[in-house]
Amino acid sequence: MDEKTKNRLGVEENKPTDWFEKLYSEANEDGEGIPWANMAPHPVFKSWIRKNPNTHKGKTALVIGCGMGDDAIELESQGFKVTAFDVSNSAIELCKTRFPNAKVEFIQSDLLKGIPDWNRKFDFVLEIYTIQALPPKYEKTLIKHISDFVADKGKLLVITETQQDKRAFENGPPWLLNQEYIKSFESCGLKQIFHLSSTEAEMGEATHLTLFQRQA
Ligand SMILES: C[S@@+](CC[C@H](N)C(=O)[O-])C[C@H]1O[C@@H](n2cnc3c(N)ncnc32)[C@H](O)[C@@H]1O
Repeated sequence: MDEKTKNRLGVEENKPTDWFEKLYSEANEDGEGIPWANMAPHPVFKSWIRKNPNTHKGKTALVIGCGMGDDAIELESQGFKVTAFDVSNSAIELCKTRFPNAKVEFIQSDLLKGIPDWNRKFDFVLEIYTIQALPPKYEKTLIKHISDFVADKGKLLVITETQQDKRAFENGPPWLLNQEYIKSFESCGLKQIFHLSSTEAEMGEATHLTLFQRQA
């Protein structure tokens, strides 16, 4: 993101989530002005979930930083009972307007604060590009809070772009992750059970899909 846009949106290291509300409150259902709004499920996630169908009926899923809501709708179509949250209230309102017939529970909430009521509650948790949307100093907290949502034997799917450069506030957003994120999730009681990476990436050097499972 260029300096002018950063200043206009008020991207600040110590108020790291405020600018999302400004961005979404200026957008409409077409997602115009939202840099990451594809208005479709993430292609790598969609391809993976469709190759692993029919095992999800009645299971619970949580979507982190759900944005315009398309990934949550994809999970619902796969049989999950879905909760999806975003820090931006306007994003949540856009999801509800876009998908009035969905059963997905769209909720405004802040991952940075943690959500104790959801600890160990979800069979499947989906994280796409939320960690990299917040300054590097919050990485460990975000990974801890995301991991906490995963039930015993539950799974977490993380899709992220990576870079080898050191992460620094001055260089984002986005603040692409380094590959060490896998170890960080593993130190929160999860184990990597599948990993796929590709040098096809929009912002960084590679796109990673990593599936973790909580060890009971
Ligand atoms: C880069 S966007 C990705 C959105 C969506 N996951 C996607 O792939 O299209 C990051 C999203 O995380 C949300 N977000 C940022 N900080 C958050 C927080 N602390 N709690 C919940 N959502 C957050 C933003 O509002 C935004 O929708």
